[in-house]
Amino acid sequence: MRKNIVAGNWKMNTTVQEGVALAKEIDAALAGVTPKCDVIIATPFTHLVSVVNAIDTNRIGVGAENCADKTEGAFTGEVSAKMVASTGAKYVILGHSERRAYYHETPEILKEKVLLALANGLTPIFCIGEVLEEREVGKHFEVVKAQVEGSLFNLSAEDFGKIILAYEPVWAIGTGKTATADQAEEIHAFIRKTIADKYGKEVAENTSILYGGSCKPSNAPELFAKPDVDGGLIGGAALKADSFMGIITAF
Ligand code: PGA
Repeated sequence: MRKNIVAGNWKMNTTVQEGVALAKEIDAALAGVTPKCDVIIATPFTHLVSVVNAIDTNRIGVGAENCADKTEGAFTGEVSAKMVASTGAKYVILGHSERRAYYHETPEILKEKVLLALANGLTPIFCIGEVLEEREVGKHFEVVKAQVEGSLFNLSAEDFGKIILAYEPVWAIGTGKTATADQAEEIHAFIRKTIADKYGKEVAENTSILYGGSCKPSNAPELFAKPDVDGGLIGGAALKADSFMGIITAF
């Protein structure tokens, strides 16, 4: 059966020292509870080694927020999937809407990144989601379908089974405006059906689909209670141990 997962996405926040302190605080808080979900924190590249060494990685999985679409070589400033894996990180967020919008990551580029992540043993947390104008004209279903098809449907069923999906409506990210639990459930169920049509019911039922976009302790219980919402990808509320723990314990 699929896992419930709460993953923090720190984005471009915290120094290494602040990040290590935050990771330790979350680790200590988790030591006292048995969460009903897997817990992941995705940090800037600079933090990965230090965070991996500072916490119990059986309790918290560590991930990067991106990786290169090339294997290695003359790509100044890029960080490869192999380098990410060599830090001890196990996950990588790919296709976040901020990467798509500000760094022009196309479905083709993301397809390469997914393949390289998988080849290096990393689990991609693959983000999809529509912008407000697309939702307003009812195009959100076709947009997320195209995003999944464009970067993931080249995978074998076995490899697709390694992917974690995160549905993040762009209009809800960092805006304080959350999708209602019913809106989330409607599109999560649609995404699962899209996967079932391609890979069969079993693969679809085993795929964790997280919700992201202004998720916080107050709205997480209602969102996570929906049958097709398997957890959350958390931005702002992941930057404080108590709010992140409040979301983890929503399960
Ligand atoms: P938010 O970000 O929780 O701050 O809205 C979520 C994300 O972008 O992953």
